[in-house]
Amino acid sequence: MPETFLVIGGNGRVGREVVTQLLDAGHGVRALVRSEPKVDALRRSGVEILRGDMDNAEALRSAVEGIRALYVATSDPEESVEQMRRFVGIAREAGVEKIVRLSAMSADPDAASDLSRRHGLRERALEESGLAWTHLRPTWFMQMMLEYAPGGRLDLPGGEGRIGWIDTRDIAAVAVAAMTGEGHEGKAYELTGPAALSYQELADTMSAATGREFVYRDVPRDEYRAMMRAEGEEDWYIDLVLQLYDRISSDELALVTDGVEQALGRKATGFEVFCRDHADALIRQL
Ligand SMILES: NC(=O)c1ccc[n+]([C@@H]2O[C@H](COP(=O)([O-])OP(=O)(O)OC[C@H]3O[C@@H](n4cnc5c(N)ncnc54)[C@H](OP(=O)(O)O)[C@@H]3O)[C@@H](O)[C@H]2O)c1
Repeated sequence: MPETFLVIGGNGRVGREVVTQLLDAGHGVRALVRSEPKVDALRRSGVEILRGDMDNAEALRSAVEGIRALYVATSDPEESVEQMRRFVGIAREAGVEKIVRLSAMSADPDAASDLSRRHGLRERALEESGLAWTHLRPTWFMQMMLEYAPGGRLDLPGGEGRIGWIDTRDIAAVAVAAMTGEGHEGKAYELTGPAALSYQELADTMSAATGREFVYRDVPRDEYRAMMRAEGEEDWYIDLVLQLYDRISSDELALVTDGVEQALGRKATGFEVFCRDHADALIRQL
């Protein structure tokens, strides 16, 4: 019988890839999802799907039953910190041994940025749980470019700031290695791709890979706030995102690390390769 691993947030950008890679490696997968399974990986046979969210202790107890190692990713409202504190208690009581958590670059309980602080506090809750832990601290996902370029326009308030964009397939590969293998306990992996690129450079690379035109426009902050409101985003999330774009514009996210190589013994995927592998999906946005 293959071991079953729990994935919380299996509908998410990284979670869906974690499910796929676990299945492809022949492992069993149980997924806890809040909403209707949205992604193909979850619809594949053999995935045990449970409904529930991080506020539902009963659902969490059922989800962790018989589980040795799990992956967890959620979104980042203030209450996510308290949810994580409660969750690690539930996991410990059930006999879970290892938790691999999707955090973010610059996680720090004392950070000025809400996002970094909330990630830091959730990391701390995990470290204080007594369970084995691995923190995944990625920078921004290359896969965001499959959503952020409708009509070929990257209308974003990123200035000329650069980011060490990472492929979610690499983050998931580290998650799977940490869940299923040894030697990753107590590690906080800072995960980036091989180069720090500006939005202009992304647009140029996407255009070259697809033979179609992608254009970046540096959008004023207020205009971007109005765009997000029009899309129905909540104010706490808009504030969080704008704080992030301020950090991007000042080049704070221009770091490149060797975290993928440390964890997997191979180089991180470059943006050109990402574009080549996703050329059809990039073009579908046009
Ligand atoms: N996007 C990036 O570029 C990026 C970069 C670095 C770090 N991160 C971090 O990665 C994490 C996930 O972000 P993302 O962009 O990957 O979002 P995402 O794709 O929407 O994934 C979040 C997942 O968490 C689930 N979820 C959220 N709140 C939950 C709750 N209360 N209970 C149970 N499940 C819950 C969602 O489930 P449903 O789909 O069922 O609602 C979704 O599957 C965040 O902590 C973010 O800070 C993101």
